Amino acid sequence: MTETVQQAPVVDLDGVSQRFVTDSGDVVHALAETSIQIPQGQFVCVVGPSGCGKTTLLKIIAGFLDPTGGAARYRGEQITGPGAARGVVFQQPNLYPWYSVRDNVALGMRMRKVGKAERARKAQEHLELVGLGEFGDAKPYELSGGMQQRAQIARVLANETDVILMDEPFGALDAITRARLQADLLALQRAQHRTVFFITHDVDEAVFLGDRVLVMSARPGRVVLDQEVTLSQQAGHQLGEEMRRTAEFIELRERIAGAIEH
Ligand SMILES: Nc1ncnc2c1ncn2[C@@H]1O[C@H](COP(=O)(O)OP(=O)(O)OP(=O)(O)O)[C@@H](O)[C@H]1O
Ligand SMILES: [Mg+2]
Repeated sequence: MTETVQQAPVVDLDGVSQRFVTDSGDVVHALAETSIQIPQGQFVCVVGPSGCGKTTLLKIIAGFLDPTGGAARYRGEQITGPGAARGVVFQQPNLYPWYSVRDNVALGMRMRKVGKAERARKAQEHLELVGLGEFGDAKPYELSGGMQQRAQIARVLANETDVILMDEPFGALDAITRARLQADLLALQRAQHRTVFFITHDVDEAVFLGDRVLVMSARPGRVVLDQEVTLSQQAGHQLGEEMRRTAEFIELRERIAGAIEH
């Protein structure tokens, strides 16, 4: 029994599809039948045109949306709602305004009854990771939008969830901060074998971070390319920024960009 569960994919989307009925009664077919299996420790990036159903997919995995067709499973169990094992970084920062930045980062640990000293240590460690070591006592409104976004990332990383779901988490950040956080996230994921589902508009970012890149078509979204990225698996650590200049990297980037345009 235990063995079957361990071998099962961490995330299993089995022919999921999504239709929405808008307030005016129109039916929007957001997501065509989609099957995606994500094994333990895989870093999956999703790219595709705006409105193609990327966030919809993420919400189904997070348990915020019940798909209108098919089945979504987490470690073999039907997903029926959000769970503490699946952490989400949203497109927009969503910190609790009445808590300090540190308490926001430590909130999940508090709910899991992690001791106070351990909580404070881990919160500080992850604030430093995202470059906010000095801002633990600040309130979210005292931070810029990009800093709030980094705090949101620290919160999810500090929670050490089994699955990390990220919806364009670096979209609003400047290029330097973004490159640093990409490298940090990749190192962390490699070290801890987390399973990551990461949405981005940036093909370069997808190839840099992903073990696998899924390209989705325009609405109703479906996966038109499921591309394995072996170079980051093998060389991501050692090469770092250098990797972006290799021939394999450039070739993959063009293939993926081509699939998006198609
Ligand atoms: N609650 C909802 N009610 C009605 N339509 C919705 C709802 N949520 C999403 N949609 C529609 O479903 C489609 C897919 O939306 P989704 O947010 O998944 O796209 P996306 O790929 O994340 O786009 P973007 O890259 O712009 O974030 C869109 O056409 C959107 O208008
Ligand atoms: Mg979206």
